[in-house]
This record gives sequence, C-alpha cells and structure tokens, in this order.
Amino acid sequence: MLLCQISDLHVMSGRTLAYGVVDTAACLERCVQRIVGLDPMPDLVVATGDLVDMPDAMSYGVLREILARLPLPVYLLPGNHDERQALRAAFPDHRYLPREGDFLQYAVDEYPVRVLALDTVIPGQPEGTLCARRLHWLQQRLDESDAPTVIALHHPPFVTGIDHMDRMGLDNSTGLATIVRRFPQVQRIVCGHLHRPIQAMFAGTLASVCPSAAHQVLLDLKPGSPARFVMEPPAFQLHLWTGQTLVTHTAYTGDYEGPYAFH
Ligand SMILES: [Fe+2]
Repeated sequence: MLLCQISDLHVMSGRTLAYGVVDTAACLERCVQRIVGLDPMPDLVVATGDLVDMPDAMSYGVLREILARLPLPVYLLPGNHDERQALRAAFPDHRYLPREGDFLQYAVDEYPVRVLALDTVIPGQPEGTLCARRLHWLQQRLDESDAPTVIALHHPPFVTGIDHMDRMGLDNSTGLATIVRRFPQVQRIVCGHLHRPIQAMFAGTLASVCPSAAHQVLLDLKPGSPARFVMEPPAFQLHLWTGQTLVTHTAYTGDYEGPYAFH
C-alpha cells in the first residue's frame, strides 16, 4: 500500500501570489502532475491541512479544480488557514467529511493501513488544539481495531526548535501522547504546518512532518527567530507500507537533471 501525503498547499483565489511571492496554484499543479506520473500510483492521497491560504469559496474552487486531476481518492483535513464550513461546502461529494458536527474528523478503513484524521483547528487562531471531545473520538476509533494505523493531523505534536512555528503549535500534545502510548498499532503520526521535512519520536511512535507543496519555512533554530519562508524545493511524501513498517520517501516536485545509469 502506498499513501501519498501532500501538505500546506495554501492555494489562493484568482491564482494570485501568496505573500506577493508564491504562485501556490502553479505549485500544486506541478505536485499533482508529478503524482499522476508515478508508477506505481499511490492508493490514496491525504492532504494534511492549509489547503488554501484564505478560506473563501473561490480559493476552495481553485483547489477543487486542481485536485480533480488526481485519478485516485483524495482525503482532506483542515489546517489553521482552513475553515470547516467552506471546506465542506466546496467538497460535498467527499463523503468521508462529516456533514454535521463541530469537527472534521474521520476514519479511512478501506486499505491495509487505517487512516485516522484529526481536526486541530481553533477558528481564527494559528495554533492548534485537541480538546477532550476530539481525543475521546480518537480513543474510540483506536479501541475498535488493531489494524496498522496512521494518525493524520495538521499541527505536529512536538516542539521543533523553529521558534515562531512552535509558538503556534499544538497546545495539548500530552493528551494525544497519553492515548497513542496505549495503542501499539499506531505506526505513524503524519503532520503538516511546519513546511519542512521533520521527524521526532512521540509517545512510542514516529511523528513526521511533510514539506509544503509550495513554500518552505526557513530552517532557523535561533531562539526568537522571526517568521520567514524560503523557496527551497517543494515536495510531497510517499509512505510505503511494507507489511512490517511504514517507509517514507520525500519526493521533490521540481525538474532535475537525470536520471543517469550507474555505469
Ligand atoms: Fe501552512
């Protein structure tokens, strides 16, 4: 089974430039084109939040039009730049999205690896949370099956050392850790938000961050560092389930010389 993760698409309405610099729609188009050209094709795509930059209907319309080029199931979850109702409204055919209720959380049970999507959004705030109700839902899902499981959420549950991003991190990672530690079937926690490839052990499993399909957060580990981004190569990730473990490959979406044979 091959799970493709894309993250932090930040698509803009009218295809304007994010922060006056980044053509995020073009970045997503390149990412989609790269995924479509994969052999083997992934079984599914999970998009771990910040799907659009400003959560209006036009931005979600651009997102929808570009994602429609993917000939495989796409699962969306919200980030701090998203808005639940606008996301639901733009994707009425995405049946896995709960039509009612306060949170966009769901289980994907159709594959050898189960995906549990968590909603960390606090409306209007850049930081994320997992309140008692959201954590209770997670515990119920983990109680019902011991199938290998990937938990997907936007805000990573660990401190990264990139100060300005950590200040808008997940505020209840201990609540998540208490649950995850009890369920050894959790193979991975996959996240976005940081716009960089990052990994850390968390509650007995690996937590990983997928780079952005557009702009990356500057690697700056100085305390008090200002918020800056950089046009390092956009990327997505392929999580390959071998039957034993989940192996993660980072795939860059740019054009590079090669491939060349080793002789
Ligand atoms: Fe983002």
